[in-house]
Amino acid sequence: MTESFYPATLVREPAFRRKTGRMKISVVLGTRPEIIKMAPLLKILEAKKADFFTLHTGQHYSYELDKVFFDQLELPRPRYNLEAGSGTHAEETAKMLTGIEKILLNERPDFVLVEGDTNSVLAGALAAVKLGIRVGHVEAGLRSYDRTMPEEINRVITDHIGSYLFAPTLKAKQILLGEGIYQGKTFVTGNTIVDAIRLYLETARQKVDIHRQFHLTPQKYFLATLHRQENTDNRDRFTSILEGLSGTAAQFKLPVVYPAHPRSRKLVDSLKKPPKGLKIIDPVDFFSFLQLESNARLILTDSGGVQEEACILHIPCVTLRDNTERPETVDAGANIVAGAAAEYIVESATKMLERKTDWTNPFGDGHAAERILNIITEAEND
Ligand code: UD1
Ligand code: UDP
Repeated sequence: MTESFYPATLVREPAFRRKTGRMKISVVLGTRPEIIKMAPLLKILEAKKADFFTLHTGQHYSYELDKVFFDQLELPRPRYNLEAGSGTHAEETAKMLTGIEKILLNERPDFVLVEGDTNSVLAGALAAVKLGIRVGHVEAGLRSYDRTMPEEINRVITDHIGSYLFAPTLKAKQILLGEGIYQGKTFVTGNTIVDAIRLYLETARQKVDIHRQFHLTPQKYFLATLHRQENTDNRDRFTSILEGLSGTAAQFKLPVVYPAHPRSRKLVDSLKKPPKGLKIIDPVDFFSFLQLESNARLILTDSGGVQEEACILHIPCVTLRDNTERPETVDAGANIVAGAAAEYIVESATKMLERKTDWTNPFGDGHAAERILNIITEAEND
């Protein structure tokens, strides 16, 4: 099977036809990466004057993880915000589930669209499917095969209860088929993050000057992000990764710029000595982050989205985890999965800095959002 994207006109899903009237879509989202990756879809829905509304769970609520993206990307405002906030997994998910159910019962959309693998995604999909509302899962079929990760649980469940599974790559689709999922539910669309980069990179270049703000020179810094539960809930592991970042900074005599997610900020601030070579800053807006990424010499991260963006932008990446659900980046030669051992992080950074960056982007042509909306529209009208 060769890599190919679904031409929207060939898509048929007779099992899920809507009977009458105009289709109503609910976009359920709750965190930074979902807002960014749903932005291209929201833009099209708005431009087409589609019947849709955004339901924000409120999982992310700090300005720099939430509202900044609606403002900067000029996204339609959510009709609802559940303000679920932070808590244990059960607390977060339960609050969202009950809140989402009430709204869906009232609004009765034909479709719920979710993106990714957060607790908001699980809650949105589960609430909808129990009400007999069809669920479209954007970014389906990703697997780390590590069930200690909350994200892995969320993605597996969402894929298995979803009606329309939008796999970013052929590899992701094959994973779904390998789990016995009906082929007719799966569509290779590309990843909407390519659409977001296509939409915003040039504007980002023109509109912000993050380098001047932080006294940085393009190509003369590394960029890091670190926030995943498996890294932040284990102090030894977190400290070892920070040592790896400091070691990389020392080896190449370049600073590591680290916009710290609030989850890891607390840990960094509690350290007795600040890690050497790191420039720790608050999370930045998407345009600033795109500018930082596209001018970094190397990116070190445990983020899923940042691994993809590094690959798309042709910036070498070192993943600060033991596995990745984005193996396409490794296969392309754009990424090494380094784990948490300081020496191995430095060694992986050294290897990645020696590599050519002329790999092929495996995540699509930047038209995933159009494809996804065409698929559901055509299926409904069939
Ligand atoms: C969540 C996702 C993770 C995703 C990340 C994107 C789950 C299980 N995890 O992790 O997959 O990579 O979002 O960034 O859904 N906090 C704030 N302000 C906020 C939100 C959170 O300060 O607006 C702090 C709180 O201390 C909170 C902690 O961050 O307890 C964790 O927040 P939570 O939403 O539970 O998980 P994330 O780590 O953000
Ligand atoms: N991002 C951002 N500002 C930052 C750090 C990240 O805008 O300071 C963006 C980044 O471009 C990517 C997304 O946030 O699109 C990734 O989100 P995150 O790493 O929080 O979640 P994950 O992808 O790991 O689920």
